[in-house]
Amino acid sequence: MSHNTVAINQRMDRFDGHHRVWLFGYGSLIFKADFPYIERRPATIANWTRRFWQGSHDHRGTETAPGRVATLVAEAGAITAGMAYLITPEVFAHLDHREKNGYLRLAIDIHFDDGSSELGLVYIAAEDNAAFLGEASEIEIARQIARSHGPSGANRDYLIDLAQALRELGMEDGHVFEIERHLIDMRG
Ligand code: BEZ
Repeated sequence: MSHNTVAINQRMDRFDGHHRVWLFGYGSLIFKADFPYIERRPATIANWTRRFWQGSHDHRGTETAPGRVATLVAEAGAITAGMAYLITPEVFAHLDHREKNGYLRLAIDIHFDDGSSELGLVYIAAEDNAAFLGEASEIEIARQIARSHGPSGANRDYLIDLAQALRELGMEDGHVFEIERHLIDMRG
């Protein structure tokens, strides 16, 4: 199931004329920055929470056996920690293709540790996209992740790499760490 968002993202003109834009990463962008950036800083966003509710048919699963990857779900009062990258607008062309399966760019306030904030962009896969799988318990999510593989590798590696990166950055995420615990338990 593919939901190609490249064209929609390329019509997004919120930052036209800007030479540098902050991009907030909360999933693979934390541990896989395969693009040039000017600066990167730990950051948070408010009122969104990270959830493994997005299907991955193109990276960590297949059309018939999708994996699960991170998206953001609106939740009043929630704080999500991640990594912000200062990039040039050209980098979005690369990311729009890399993350074409349902993710749309959204303008958002990004908060830095020193108390400053900047308006930037984040990729969000909303619940109306065709690849959205939705809520499930952490154990069910772990089971699906454990059996899923795609062109970018094992779905398990995505979750474990993200959990490890969050831990190294001193960032808490109960949802991610609980799925990680189930995956580790399953291996015995
Ligand atoms: C991220 O790591 O922020 C990200 C997740 C999904 C799509 C694009 C970016």
